[in-house]
Amino acid sequence: MDLFSPVTLGDLTLANRVVMAPLTRTRAGAAGVPNELLVEHYGQRASNGLIVAEGTYPNAESRSYPGQPGLATDEQAAGWRAVADAVHARGGKIVVQVMHGGRVSHTDITGTERIVGPSAVAIAGETHTPEGKEAFPVPHALTTEEIADVVADFVAASRRAVDAGLDGVEIHSANGYLLHQFLAPGSNHRDDVYGGSPENRARLTVEVAAAVAAEIGAGRVGIRLSPAHNIQDAFEQDPADVEATYHHLAEQLQPLGLAYVSVLHHDPAGELVQGIRKRFGGPFMVNTGFAAVTTFEEATGYLANGVADVVAVGRAVMANPDLVERWQGGHPLNELDPSTSYGNGPEGYVDYPFLAR
Ligand SMILES: Cc1cc2nc3c(=O)[nH]c(=O)nc-3n(C[C@H](O)[C@H](O)[C@H](O)COP(=O)(O)O)c2cc1C
Repeated sequence: MDLFSPVTLGDLTLANRVVMAPLTRTRAGAAGVPNELLVEHYGQRASNGLIVAEGTYPNAESRSYPGQPGLATDEQAAGWRAVADAVHARGGKIVVQVMHGGRVSHTDITGTERIVGPSAVAIAGETHTPEGKEAFPVPHALTTEEIADVVADFVAASRRAVDAGLDGVEIHSANGYLLHQFLAPGSNHRDDVYGGSPENRARLTVEVAAAVAAEIGAGRVGIRLSPAHNIQDAFEQDPADVEATYHHLAEQLQPLGLAYVSVLHHDPAGELVQGIRKRFGGPFMVNTGFAAVTTFEEATGYLANGVADVVAVGRAVMANPDLVERWQGGHPLNELDPSTSYGNGPEGYVDYPFLAR
């Protein structure tokens, strides 16, 4: 399959198969409201087949980073409307990644009284807060009743997203954030219906996906998974358990008819990931993670070999607003300056040049 051919993911019709991966860039200020910088940044990148906008928090206590945008308030939703309008005006499509950070946070970041997680187990190490570096807190273990509120907050944020004109949402169940914390035995020590067996640990992700799909329509909902990523202490170190958990999860997602499943894994062609794909049975997106930057050769290879339907591309899109045109024409690429990844101004965010005309 050609990287530059159109494709349909649920209700989303893409002009090409290059997907801008979700990228946290912390430019949304203390209030988490998408501003002119985000409007410009995403508008510049509208020629990608789909933009998955950065991890965005559904409620105050789920915020992981200063400068991260939210979808918890009407003011934040209005900011997203301007972003959606800018992308649509240039012919693009954009969904937003709804991300509950769980224990990857600190009350100095959220301004709330507590940080939550599946179990009262802290991440080893420190996080950057507005007050400086601080140890990750021991999270409050969500009660069974409080978990229903988490599901409701994912639903409300997703509703705000589509009401603001975004084309849909991607549920973040990867990279060590809350839903992944439930999936992973290293962070989930519960003994209720949300802990213990692979089926129980997968339950919350399935419930969130089903509830969001029921609210906004499954064809506008994607989900991201990162099996055995072992990041932010969400340890999944038993391969048999990983396979049981994620293959069960994929089977549970199958009847929902979601727009796509996106998997971040170093071996997308291997049995674990292709087993997820087979069981899910719908449109499939891959990305190999942080170790090496996604290249044109890699992306075209996955499509040519039938490993995936679309490819999520992160750092190359950060540095090249017109990546699709550059890849298609064999043009040279701008080099990424990683020091501006998480800055708070325009540098390294809206000033990477387009090809000269
Ligand atoms: C600065 C930065 C921020 C990221 N933020 C997110 C995020 O908000 N959500 C997410 O699922 N992945 C996030 N990722 C992971 C990317 O989506 C992607 O998987 C990763 O960059 C590897 O792809 P690449 O080699 O094409 O860059 C981030 C990566 C980087 C470099």
